[in-house]
Amino acid sequence: MVYKIHEESAHLPLGDQQTARFYGHDILSVNQFSKEDLNYIFGVAHEMHEMVARIGTFDLLKGKILANLFYEPSTRTSSSFTSAMERLGGSVIPINEVRYSSVSKGESLPDTVRTLECYADVIVLRHPEVGASALAAKFARKPVINAGDGVGEHPTQALLDLYTIVEELGSAEGLTITMLGDLKYGRTVHSLARLLSLYNTKLRYVSPKILRMPPEIIEEINAKGIDQTEHNNLTEVLRETDVLYVTRVQKERFEDPADYDAVKDAYVVESDLMRSAKDHMIVMHPLPRVGEISMDFDNDPRAAYFRQMEYGLYVRMALLAMVLGKA
Ligand code: NCD
Repeated sequence: MVYKIHEESAHLPLGDQQTARFYGHDILSVNQFSKEDLNYIFGVAHEMHEMVARIGTFDLLKGKILANLFYEPSTRTSSSFTSAMERLGGSVIPINEVRYSSVSKGESLPDTVRTLECYADVIVLRHPEVGASALAAKFARKPVINAGDGVGEHPTQALLDLYTIVEELGSAEGLTITMLGDLKYGRTVHSLARLLSLYNTKLRYVSPKILRMPPEIIEEINAKGIDQTEHNNLTEVLRETDVLYVTRVQKERFEDPADYDAVKDAYVVESDLMRSAKDHMIVMHPLPRVGEISMDFDNDPRAAYFRQMEYGLYVRMALLAMVLGKA
C-alpha cells in the first residue's frame, strides 16, 4: 500500500490498528490486500449495510469532501461513490465531464490532481490509461482510489464482487468461478481473478480466442497454485460453476470495429441455457450489459447482478470511511 501523510500506530488496539493501516492510503490494485484486510473491509461493509437500513444517512464523514474525477463514462461507480459519501454525511465535487474542466485546455493529470486535493480529502479517479491512478497517487498527498484505469484494474469493483460472493454463497473457499466474455479488455475480471487467487478457488475462463485472459495475469495467478483453465464453450464448464461472472465485450477498446462485430454476440446467458447450471449458484455482471444476459433471466433467484450493485454501495462506504480514518 502506498503510504501517505499519517504514521502507522502499532501501539493501538487491533480495530484501531486496522483503521491506521488504511488511514490516508491509496487504493490502486487488489494486490495490496491480504485476506485479513478483506475480512476487515467486509465487516465494515456489513455494518454500513445495517446502518443504511436503520437510518439511511449518518454523520461519520461530516465535513469531508470527495473529488469524483471521471475521464471515462460511468453510471454505477460514479453514483455509488457519490451516494456512499453523502450517506456518510460528506460531500462531493463531481467531475464527470472532464471536457468541461481544465483537462480540455490541456491540463496534465498530476496538475488536475494537485488542484483537486486543495479542495477535497480523497480523490476517486477513472481514467482510460493503465497506471493513471498510480501516477495520480505519486503526485497527490491525499488518498487516491482507482475507479478503473483503462484495461488495467478496477479494485473497488473486485472488492464488491468478492463481497457479493461472500454474502450470497457464504465464502469464496472451494468455489468454481467461471468468467465469461471479454477477458482481455475487461478490467473487472483482471482484478477479480487476482483477488480470488487468495482463496482456494477454481477459475474457468470462457471467451472467444481473441479475448482471452492476458497471459501475464494467468502466470501471476498460476504462481499462487490456483487451478485455471481456458475454454471457448460455456457448456464445458457451466455444470460445475458456482459463480458465473459475465462481462460486456469492451467495444471502446477495439482498434478495428470488424473485430468487435465478430465477437460481440459470442455468448448470451438466458433461461434455457441456465437449466443445466446448479440450483445453488449465482450469475454476476459488473454492468452495464448490452445483450450478454437476456432479460428473461432477471427474475431467476440466481440472477445476482442487481443485488451486486447494492453491495457496492456498502463496500464503497467502508472504503471511504477507512481511508479517511473513521471506520
Ligand atoms: C465496468 C467498468 O467500467 O469497467 N463497469 C463498472 O464499473 N460497473 C464494466 C464495463 O464497463 O463493462
